[in-house]
Order: sequence, then C-alpha cells, then structure tokens
Amino acid sequence: MRILVAFVTSSVLAPLMFMGSVETPGVPDDALTDASCMAQVPQEELPTERKNLKRLVANCKKCHADVHAEWSVTQHAKSWTDPVFQAEIRELPDKGASCARCHAPRSLWHKDMGEIPVGRKSDRDLGVNCVTCHMLGNVYFGPFDSQGHGGVEAEQAAFRESKMCFSCHGQPEARKEHDQMTSYLAGTAWTKDGKSCQSCHMSLVERKLVTEKSLKMKFLIGVQPVRMHDFRGARRGDIVAGCADVAVAFDGDKVVASVTTKTGHQLPCTTHREVVLKVTQYGADGSELASSVTSYSFPDGPSLPPGGPTTVEVRAAPGARKARATLIQILEKTEGRPDRIIQEINDAETTR
Ligand code: HEC
Ligand code: HEC
Ligand code: HEC
Ligand code: HEC
Ligand code: HEC
Repeated sequence: MRILVAFVTSSVLAPLMFMGSVETPGVPDDALTDASCMAQVPQEELPTERKNLKRLVANCKKCHADVHAEWSVTQHAKSWTDPVFQAEIRELPDKGASCARCHAPRSLWHKDMGEIPVGRKSDRDLGVNCVTCHMLGNVYFGPFDSQGHGGVEAEQAAFRESKMCFSCHGQPEARKEHDQMTSYLAGTAWTKDGKSCQSCHMSLVERKLVTEKSLKMKFLIGVQPVRMHDFRGARRGDIVAGCADVAVAFDGDKVVASVTTKTGHQLPCTTHREVVLKVTQYGADGSELASSVTSYSFPDGPSLPPGGPTTVEVRAAPGARKARATLIQILEKTEGRPDRIIQEINDAETTR
C-alpha cells in the first residue's frame, strides 16, 4: 500500500512488451499522484469516480477468461442487479445509495483494508467487480509478486486474509444482518486452524494466471496453485449439503439431537433463510408417533454457532423405537425469489 507510487510509471510500459492484440490494461481516468495518503481520506476528498469501469472489467476478461467466467455467475457480479436486493431498495427513500457502499463499491483500497468501502454513483450494475478488489487508480493488486501488468504491486498479504472480506461481510454496526465476521472470530476452531474465508469460499485449482491465447510470450507464464473466484454459497447449492453434522440418540425418556456446524460462522449466515432441525419418532411398526421442529435464523432469531455441538432434547414418545433428525435450509420466498428453495444439509437415525 505504501510503496505503490513507484510502479505507476512502469505499469504503462511493461505490458506492451509481451502482450498480444488486446488493449493495454488499466488506462486510468483517476490516476493517483500520491497513493500513500489515500488510506484515511474522507469520502468527499476521493478522486473522481472511474468512467471506464465497464471497459476495464471487459478487458480483464480478455486475459483472465477463467476468473471472469467464475465471477460472473456469483452474487458478487449480481450484488446490484440481484432481484431480491432490487425488491428491497425500491422501497427505500435513497433508492439504495447507502447500500452501494458494499453492493456497488469503489476500490476497497481507497480505505484501510477491513473498513467499509465507498459507494459508486455510476455503473452500479457491475456490482462487486475485479476493480473493486484488485485496483486503485491504475495500479493492480494481487496475492502474488507477478508483474503481469508491470504495475501489480508485490504481493498484498490481504488477499489471503479474512480481513479483505470483513470490509463488507464484517460491519455489524452498519449492517448486522450481513455480519459473518463476529461469529467467525468467536469460533476459534476456524481461526486457530488458519482457515480464512477464502479457504472455504474460493476453491483451490492448479492453472495459469492468464488465458494463454492472449499472450505472445507464453513461456513467461507457469501453472501454479491458485484460488478460483467461485465464491460458493447457498444460492448455488453445493456448499450447503454436509455443512453440518447431525447426530441423534435415545437417552432414557428423552431423544437428544445434536448439530455441529462446519461453516466457520453462524448457520444460517444471513437473512431470507431459515435452518430447521426436525426430530421425528416412530413406533415398532414404523408409524410416526411424534415430531418436533426447531428453527434457526439470523440476525433476529437464535442461529447455530460455528462448531458446536448444539443440542435439542425432546420427550421420548411412549413406544418409540426409532428416531430421525433432519437438518434443512430453506431459502425463503421473497418478492425477488418466486419459489422457496429447500436444501438438505444432513440427517441421522437411531433405534432402540
Ligand atoms: C471480492 C474480491 C474479489 C473480486 C471481486 C475479484 N477478485 Fe481476484 N482475487 C481475490 C482474492 C481474495 C484473490 C486471492 C486468492 C488466493 O490466491 O488466495 C484473488 C486472486 C486473483 C488472481 C490471481 C489468482 C488467480 O485466481 O488466477 C487473478 C488473476 C484475479 N484475482 C483476477 C480477478 C479478475 C479478473 C476479477 C474480475 C473478473 C477478480 N479477480 C475479481 C479477490 C477478488
Ligand atoms: C493484456 C493481458 C492482461 C489484461 C488485459 C489483464 N491482465 Fe492481469 N495479468 C496479466 C499477466 C500476464 C499476469 C501475470 C501472470 C503470471 O505472472 O503468471 C497477470 C496477473 C494478474 C493478477 C495476479 C497478480 C499478482 O501477482 O498477484 C491479478 C490480480 C490480475 N492480473 C488482475 C487483473 C485485472 C483486475 C484486470 C482488469 C482490470 C487484468 N488483470 C487485466 C495479463 C493481463
Ligand atoms: C465490496 C464488498 C464485498 C467484499 C470485499 C466481499 N464481498 Fe462477498 N458479497 C458482497 C455482497 C454485497 C454479496 C451479496 C450480494 C447479494 O446477494 O445481493 C456477497 C456475496 C458473497 C457470497 C455469496 C456468493 C454467491 O454467489 O452465492 C460469498 C460466498 C461471499 N460473498 C464471500 C466473500 C469472501 C470470501 C470475500 C473475501 C475474499 C468477500 N466475499 C468479499 C460484498 C463483498
Ligand atoms: C456493510 C456492507 C453492506 C451494506 C452497507 C449493505 N449490504 Fe447487503 N449485503 C452485504 C453482504 C456482505 C452481503 C452478502 C452476505 C450476506 O448476505 O450477509 C449482502 C447481501 C444482501 C442481500 C442478499 C441476502 C440473501 O438473502 O442472500 C440483500 C437482499 C441485501 N444485502 C440488501 C441490502 C440493502 C437493501 C442494503 C441497504 C439498505 C444493504 N444490503 C446494505 C453487505 C452490505
Ligand atoms: C470452514 C469453512 C468456512 C469458513 C472458514 C467460512 N465459511 Fe462462509 N460458508 C461456509 C458454508 C459451508 C456455507 C453454506 C451454509 C450457509 O448457507 O450458511 C457458507 C455460507 C456463507 C455465505 C452465504 C452465501 C449464500 O449465498 O448463502 C456467506 C456470505 C459466507 N459464507 C461468507 C463467509 C465469510 C465472509 C467468511 C469469513 C469471515 C466465511 N464465510 C468463512 C463455509 C465457510
């Protein structure tokens, strides 16, 4: 952050040396003269907003096609156009201007990492995009020390730290319903383990940093372990199945069910969804004798903490021989989501 001025000049020339037919990336419209004092500037003193955001992001796609394809199907790409979000801001007097700080922000690097970003006024449809996380002025930031644009500053540790995600996912005072940070930090198992938000939400893969055909001197680029920009979440299902362990046992005149979450943060982790633990008891002939339901929600209801176990006890029904515990997540029907989506997390069974 403090040494980036030196790269500004070289960034204009270096890419020309080995790039193909694509446009030179990062032509600035708000080039910085002294980035070292950017961190603390109040919002009104920020440089004028980028006018070429669409072109810049389209440009990233030319050389980083894989990353762009992954990103474009996530809620980061849709954080402004998301129909659930749009339905909410339609009702607001400011039409969502205050939401833009996280749903359509300018570069994170205008602030210290972990601080709430500044909202954009234009190109809000581009949501949380490449420039938000990777650029300030015409300087590129990344997790490695490659000099792909000549201006990528040597390794920014923040890309591997949860702190980068806290900028938007950890602002309990501004938006407590979007806070995955507080429970993550309290659930020391994950932090002790060194499991960052990225380690669960950005899958590891071995590949080149750039799509080959965009470069003339291909030998410069090697295969290496990188994290995909898949940001898997409940909207695209596969991360939900198995994200908690469930157990159930008879204990005298009780049935005890327990849930141990593997989410790193509270479950459910945000609004518009509910997690339900259902305990059903059956007689010797298989008939249903009793059933109970415990519901978890966030931020208003009780939620399941990271780790556990969280236990639920119910009275054993007379004659009960078998008990079954099922944990499901339900994405609620809202104006922007016409159907409820039911996702199975896990289940368990016991007999006596
Ligand atoms: C929410 C923030 C965020 C957004 C949005 C984002 N990135 Fe990243 N990017 C990261 C993080 C975090 C890493 C580091 C992951 C790691 O290796 O630990 C990364 C790594 C990279 C890398 C190097 C590793 C790799 O996967 O190849 C490239 C290239 C990259 N991003 C390009 C892009 C492009 C292009 C876009 C837009 C299509 C984009 N990023 C959008 C956060 C983001
Ligand atoms: C003309 C091709 C080209 C374009 C356009 C381009 N990049 Fe790159 N990028 C590269 C090359 C080359 C590398 C270095 C690859 C290597 O060293 O293996 C790279 C590396 C990166 C890295 C990893 C940097 C590091 O060392 O951590 C990030 C992040 C990145 N680019 C982001 C972007 C973003 C965001 C955009 C759009 C604003 C973009 N790139 C546009 C060619 C390009
Ligand atoms: C600039 C703000 C911002 C930053 C930084 C940010 N996010 Fe997000 N993230 C959002 C918003 C806003 C949404 C939800 C948009 C919606 O659903 O309307 C979101 C959604 C997600 C989702 C759900 C994606 C999906 O497609 O279902 C995951 C997972 C996620 N973020 C993880 C991360 C991780 C991990 C990091 C850190 C590397 C991070 N985010 C950094 C703002 C941000
Ligand atoms: C401090 C940053 C921040 C601000 C400000 C913010 N959001 Fe979000 N929002 C997020 C993040 C991060 C996510 C993704 C994680 C989550 O859903 O908790 C998100 C997700 C959402 C979602 C999708 C939830 C779902 O069910 O998947 C909606 C809807 C939403 N926000 C509405 C709003 C509205 C409306 C405003 C303005 C009144 C707003 N947000 C302001 C950070 C923010
Ligand atoms: C140990 C793995 C793990 C860690 C660490 C972790 N998560 Fe998650 N996260 C999950 C799983 C599994 C889910 C799916 C369950 C759910 O819907 O809540 C999830 C769900 C989410 C969602 C909801 C996405 C959606 O669309 O519904 C967001 C947002 C999110 N995590 C953000 C974060 C942030 C930010 C951090 C770091 C503070 C983090 N996660 C750390 C595993 C993890």
